[in-house]
Amino acid sequence: MADKKQEQRERFYADDPSDGPLTTDQGVPVDHTDDSLQAGERGPTLMEDFHFREKITRFDHERIPERVVHARGSGAYGYFQPYRSCAEFTRAAFLQDPDVKTPVFVRFSTVQGPRGSADTVRDVRGFATKFYTSEGNYDLVGNNFPVFFIQDGIKFPDFVHAVKMEPHNEMPTGASAHDTLWDFVSLQPETLHTIMWLMSDRAIPRSYRMMQGFGVHTFRFVNAQGKGTFVKFHWKPKLGVHSLVWDEAQETMGRDPDFNRRDLWDCIEAGDYPEYELGVQLVPEEDEHSFDFDLLDATKIIPEEQVPVRPIGRMVLNRNPDNFFAETEQVAFHTANVVPGIDFTNDPLLQARNFSYLDTQLLRLGGPNFAQIPVNQPVAPVRTNQRDGFHQSKIHRGTTSYTKNSLAGGCPAVAGADESAFRHLTEAVSGHKIRKRSDSFQNHYSQAAMFWHSMTEWEQQHIVEAYRFELGKVNAKEVRARVVEQLAHVDQSLAVAVAEGVGVAPPERQETPDVTPSPALSFENNRGDGSI
Ligand code: HEM
Repeated sequence: MADKKQEQRERFYADDPSDGPLTTDQGVPVDHTDDSLQAGERGPTLMEDFHFREKITRFDHERIPERVVHARGSGAYGYFQPYRSCAEFTRAAFLQDPDVKTPVFVRFSTVQGPRGSADTVRDVRGFATKFYTSEGNYDLVGNNFPVFFIQDGIKFPDFVHAVKMEPHNEMPTGASAHDTLWDFVSLQPETLHTIMWLMSDRAIPRSYRMMQGFGVHTFRFVNAQGKGTFVKFHWKPKLGVHSLVWDEAQETMGRDPDFNRRDLWDCIEAGDYPEYELGVQLVPEEDEHSFDFDLLDATKIIPEEQVPVRPIGRMVLNRNPDNFFAETEQVAFHTANVVPGIDFTNDPLLQARNFSYLDTQLLRLGGPNFAQIPVNQPVAPVRTNQRDGFHQSKIHRGTTSYTKNSLAGGCPAVAGADESAFRHLTEAVSGHKIRKRSDSFQNHYSQAAMFWHSMTEWEQQHIVEAYRFELGKVNAKEVRARVVEQLAHVDQSLAVAVAEGVGVAPPERQETPDVTPSPALSFENNRGDGSI
């Protein structure tokens, strides 16, 4: 049965091209499209050949800018269904009724490479989900790692410039190994935890169907009484988490650069639908400071031993898009697309993202009307005072486009006290205007060490080999040495093993963090049995 999003998409389908003869964009039938109109059999092409000019002009304008990051991606439609009501914690309509399926569109991506790069590179993978809820679109724009490289979004342009191809020769493409990346990370110890994930097998997923997803930041649930609860989001694939090993990844890249994209497409075509469980870690607001890290620091996880992940629903991807450009390329995710019942925290990385996505999409999608592109359109009604602008495709009727107004046929009033409205959580804010991060963001080694010690011996071996391969290619010896010095703060044996492989002296022994697991926290709502 078609869901609401599918019914909406069908209204946008172009006329069936096999229904009659070829036409111009103006609907005029064309009798000939192989020869341009010319003066004589061997003469010049005539300006009046509007079909020729339209055909070439449209071709000349086919490309739009690729995303500044996550340029290469693959998408699919599906649905999300909660297991039970989450009303105790959130009023979000799509998390209330186990009988309600909410349509979704998901885009998986790599981060570093351009649109045409290979799938099986060592990289973070994007896992972005648009929920077309009855209260508007909610976007959970996550990655397959639970942590991020930097703590504050103001560093994002620097980080991405270091990760991307170098400006003078646009190399390297599709691989993470190069001087600028390692120079940056060696000078920014906060990157260490996520770099350890990047050097692990998690950075080479076998399939998008076998990959976790994480919202990364701490967000907030807000219930009908206006009470907030901190929340971390987790997607868990039904097929389990599986990776390629490095040799396999490289060979696969040579044989089929579309390996992950093809796998996703083929499985959906074959009815073997990818499925993921959504889980949440919940922390009462009163317990914000119960951790030895800051909940607002996106370079940290909340260890599952401390706060269990509670499963709240499942997502099934069951339909391939009809058109890559129209849907997968033009979809616009944005962390600030939230619905009543979901809110932000003051995580400085999240705050920057809440500015960046809309800003970049205004350029990438050619102006302010991109929410009207079918894949981006909510299934919820849209009633706004916005008007005009490039690519306006609606005919808004009535004489007014302002609030308040008193004329007939005017615009809607604001929801006011209406229960359905989004209301930002009331939160006290105070402080001096300063450029200084809290000391609670300064421990960069504990969780990197925890990650390292949670690995099996062969997983550790893969991490060492990845460091040796990637870092070993760096020309500047002082950069290689600085990275190794950072590793000595995580584990001396790791630092020595990497040093040996990249031609630098073993670093001085440093004090390394205690990695004894912290006990479970006994929050009022931390039932420990995973129920919600
Ligand atoms: C794109 C995730 C941090 C800026 C994306 C996409 C994902 C993602 C999944 C691809 C969306 C798609 O498929 O269309 C993340 C995660 C982050 C993070 C999980 C950290 C936790 C940031 C930061 C910034 C940023 C800090 C900027 C301050 C962008 C931009 C795009 C993008 C500009 C391209 C969006 C577009 O053109 O549609 N990000 N990102 N991201 N991200 Fe992030």
